[in-house]
Parts: sequence; C-alpha cells; structure tokens
Amino acid sequence: MPEPKFSNQSSESNIMTAHLNADAATGIAVVTGASAGIGATYADRLARRGHDLILVARRQDVLEGVAQAIRDAYGVVVETIAADLADEADLASVASRIAGNAGITMLVNNAGIATFAPVIRTGVGAANQMIDVNVTALVRLTLAVLPGFTESNSGTIINISSVAALGEMPVTALYSGSKAFILSFTRGLAGELAATGVRVQAVLPGPVATDGWDNAGLPLSSLNPATVMSVPDCVDAALGGLDTGETITLPSVEDAATLLANYDAARFALLGASQSGTPASRYKE
Ligand SMILES: NC(=O)c1ccc[n+]([C@@H]2O[C@H](COP(=O)([O-])OP(=O)(O)OC[C@H]3O[C@@H](n4cnc5c(N)ncnc54)[C@H](OP(=O)(O)O)[C@@H]3O)[C@@H](O)[C@H]2O)c1
Repeated sequence: MPEPKFSNQSSESNIMTAHLNADAATGIAVVTGASAGIGATYADRLARRGHDLILVARRQDVLEGVAQAIRDAYGVVVETIAADLADEADLASVASRIAGNAGITMLVNNAGIATFAPVIRTGVGAANQMIDVNVTALVRLTLAVLPGFTESNSGTIINISSVAALGEMPVTALYSGSKAFILSFTRGLAGELAATGVRVQAVLPGPVATDGWDNAGLPLSSLNPATVMSVPDCVDAALGGLDTGETITLPSVEDAATLLANYDAARFALLGASQSGTPASRYKE
C-alpha cells in the first residue's frame, strides 16, 4: 500500500486570502470522503463559510479536482490527502497528521461505504471494509482531534450516520449496525462533552442522490424519487441543524424533535426497566 500523498497546491494569492478568511472562529475543517457526494458538498459549504480544508479520500485525481474548484471559488487553502481509511497504515498516517495540527477546528467524519447484501453473501473483505471505514476510522480520527479540541475548549465533530441506524432491512445488517454505532457513539460523546465548548453532531440522512447507491449494489434509479433528497439540500439542512445546536439531525424528518423525544423516552424506559436485578417473571418456573 503506497504512503498517503499530501498536497497543498494553493497559489500564493489563495493562501493570503485564506489567512484572511481563516480566523479563530473558522479554522481548518477536515472532511473525509470529500471526493464525491455528501463529503464534496460539505467541503464546498464549509469553504464558503470561510474554513480552510483538509480533504481525505482514496482517488487523488478526483479529490484534487474538488479541491481546485473550491480554491478557485472561495480562495481558501485546501490540502488533499489521498488515503484509504480501511488501510491501517494510511489511517494511522492521516490520524497523526491531523492530531498535530492545532489549526483544525472541525472534523467531518463523512467517509462511508455500504454493501447491500445479506450477511452470508457479503464476504469477509467487504464486511471488514464497511466496519473499518464506517466505524474504526471514524473513532480513530475522532481520537486524533479530541485532545486538541478539549484543550482549546472548542471545535466541532460531525459524524455522518444514517436513518439506517434506526431500522434494519435484511440486506442492511452490517451497514445499519455500523451506522447505529455512529449514532450511539455520538450520543455518548456528546454527553461526555456537554459541559465543554466542544460540539458533536450526528447526521442521519434518509436516501440522498449520490453514487453511493450504485456502489452499494442498489441502483439509485430503483428508489422512489419522491423519497430521495438532493445532496445540497441534505448538507445545507444538516449544517442548519448544526447552527441551531442539534446533536442529532435528521434532515428529512419534519417532526424530528417530537419523534426523537418519543424515541428517547422509549429507549430510556427500556434501559430503566433492565435495572431490576432479577430475571423477568416469564423466565421463572
Ligand atoms: N447517499 C445516501 O443516501 C446516504 C444516506 C445516509 C447516509 N449516507 C452516508 O453519507 C456518507 C457519504 O455517502 P455518499 O452517499 O456521499 O457516498 P459516495 O458518493 O459513495 O461518496 C463516498 C465518499 O467516501 C470516500 N471513501 C469511500 N471509501 C473510502 C476509503 N476506504 N477511504 C477513504 N475514503 C473513502 C469516497 O472517495 P474515494 O472513492 O475517492 O475514496 C467518497 O468521497 C457515508 O457515510 C454514507 O454512509 C449516505
């Protein structure tokens, strides 16, 4: 596996403009999976807000195309890191690179993959890749930025989960499991950081029009178009949720606050009922 390649091809004038833009309130945003889909639009929107960027994905040429378009449009500094987040050496390299960068103020853990198939037909390689990218890399990169964020009592971590975290279908056991991990991890982390200035948000999109569907083996064209959101709508709504202080953002759900309150009430009722210390009567002779 080749070493991750780092590139920062901003022109001198871009760098000067970016230094004007990148004040303490914005700083550098790291976006994983930024070569396409939701991640590429996060990169665009965060640059529009004044962030310099570090963009991560495997396809260096495609990633560099996204980066250059953003430099041209907003004059911010954009660094690209070509890395496979399922590869231990690449992941360690990205983690150490961002851990040492005090200018980073935001991490968007967006990179994710799906293989929609019954578990028995998924294969060890595809299963591991889903867990490595969706779960392991997200935790590792979170751990990389967290000490700096807690030290400065600021910073934002956005974790892209999915509505698949809320319910499984026979072909989504692994994907839903990985996205449920992200939801649970983010909720727990948000609780740990509640008294600090560090922000954490989990975003749970419904279906969004990206290549991810075709890559997952379920063509986008097979979905009911009425259920599919555009990428800009999804990212703009998710950033709107961030701006209003949400920890859990469901871009496509109208009555999210009420439904989440009911969902939490049911979860915590079940958790509370589990603290009885005795087997339930149905398990007794
Ligand atoms: N689209 C939806 O309907 C939907 C719904 C809910 C949640 N989500 C979540 O949203 C996130 C983005 O999905 P998307 O639909 O935008 O997918 P996408 O269009 O397929 O883009 C995935 C991105 O992740 C990168 N990536 C994939 N594997 C990688 C790896 N091993 N190492 C580094 N980068 C990798 C890809 O770049 P390279 O190929 O260049 O590496 C690409 O930039 C994912 O976490 C996904 O689960 C999507």
